[in-house]
Order: sequence, then structure tokens, then C-alpha cells
Amino acid sequence: MSKKIIAGNWKQNGTLKSSISLTKKVLQAVKKEKYTHEIVIIPPSIFLLPVKDLIHKSKIKLGAQNVSAFNDGAYTGEISGSMLKDSGVDYCLVGHSERRHIINEDESDFSSKVSRLIDNDIKVIYCFGETLNDYKNKKTKLIIKRQLKKLFLNNKNNLKKHPSKLILAYEPVWAIGTGLVPSPEELVSIFKYIRDTVNNLDKKYASIKLLYGGSVTPDNASSLMDTEHIDGLLIGGASLIAKKFIDICSTI
Ligand code: 13P
Repeated sequence: MSKKIIAGNWKQNGTLKSSISLTKKVLQAVKKEKYTHEIVIIPPSIFLLPVKDLIHKSKIKLGAQNVSAFNDGAYTGEISGSMLKDSGVDYCLVGHSERRHIINEDESDFSSKVSRLIDNDIKVIYCFGETLNDYKNKKTKLIIKRQLKKLFLNNKNNLKKHPSKLILAYEPVWAIGTGLVPSPEELVSIFKYIRDTVNNLDKKYASIKLLYGGSVTPDNASSLMDTEHIDGLLIGGASLIAKKFIDICSTI
């Protein structure tokens, strides 16, 4: 059976000291509990290497929060896919709501980033989801369909060749950092819709994993994971607190 994924997105939080301490605690739990799911930690870029040094002999995978849309060259301030690969990065986020809505990245940025990552053999965790306004206007499925269609159309060749390099993370914007989570009925219906939409694009895509993200806590993690078609969780705030992240990993 293919592995479930529990990923912790630390966003722009922490210090070198706190990142090391958090990593060590997660490492200890992973060694002790022998989780069967894949644990991914996603620190700020500046802390990737010290974190990698700690986890390199363990089963914990390393994720990056961002990648340059360009190959190596004169792009001041950017970090390329090959640099991430060289630093031991296994996964990278693309399309996160904070990058869409605060940094103003768009589908063309995402498509370049997906290419750079697949070229460098790094798995893409592609985030998508509707805003509160869209949700209130009952446009959730419409927005999901639009975002997914663009992703698969813009990266058709790469994704058809390497479907296993893509993981999809549905993160409703209104659920991120708010304590709000879609109802169980909504989740069942949305994840069935995502699964059907993806599978209908090409049968090669049937094995693409689907994650849920948005206000995941130790209290709701196991019921989220019991939802049909949810193959893992992408956790923000709770991944910064070792006990909460470990509790989530342990409850499922
Ligand atoms: P929270 O878990 O803090 O809601 O964040 C979710 C998220 O954005 C993960 O990428």
C-alpha cells in the first residue's frame, strides 16, 4: 500500500536554534514510533542545510517552501532547483495560497517552478483551494477545477511522463490559520470531486496523492485522514510545536 504523507510547513517562522530543537524532537519520535507514513518537514530555506544534517540518516524527508522559476544564473536572491537537489531536498511546495495572494505569483510562475523541480527530480506539493468569497458564493468546485486544469495543461508533458512527481494539496484559503475546517460532508464531496477531476484528465494520474491542509490539529487529524481520498496532511501552525506535530503523526 502506498504511504500516507504528513508534511509540516514551517513557513517564515523560527530561529536556527528553534529549528534544530524542533527537528531533533521530531527525529526522536520518528525513531521511537517507527511511523509507516512519510514524514516531511519543510523549514525556511536558510535552515534547510542544518536540518538536513540532522535528518540525513533518518526516514524524515526534507521539503523546501519555494524554488526559483529559473535555472542557475543571474537571478539575485533566488534558489534554483539544482541547488535544492544538491542540499538534499526531496519535496517542494508550489502554489501555496500565501504565494498566490501575498507574493502575487501566478500560474505561469507555478508552471516554471513545477518544471524546474521535476527536471531536478524533486517532488512537487502543489497547493490550491478557494478563497472565503468563493466558498461563500458556492464556487469551490469551479475554482478547484480551474486551478487543476491550468496546472495539468501548463505542465502536460512533464506530468504525463512523471505523474509520481506530483502531490496535490487542497488548502481552502479560509481554513489556513483560522481554526476553521470544512465539514466532513464537504470534505467527502470535495475530495471525491478532486479525485474524479484528476483521474478523468488521464488514467496515469490515478496514483497522484491528495493531501488536505488548513487548521489541522491533533484533535481533527485522524478524522481528516479517515476521509475517503485523503492521502495525507499539510500542516502549518501545528507543525511548529513538536508535541502537536508528533501527536498528529502518532494519531493516524
Ligand atoms: P495552518 O495549519 O496553520 O492552517 O496552515 C496550513 C498551511 O498553510 C500549510 O501549508
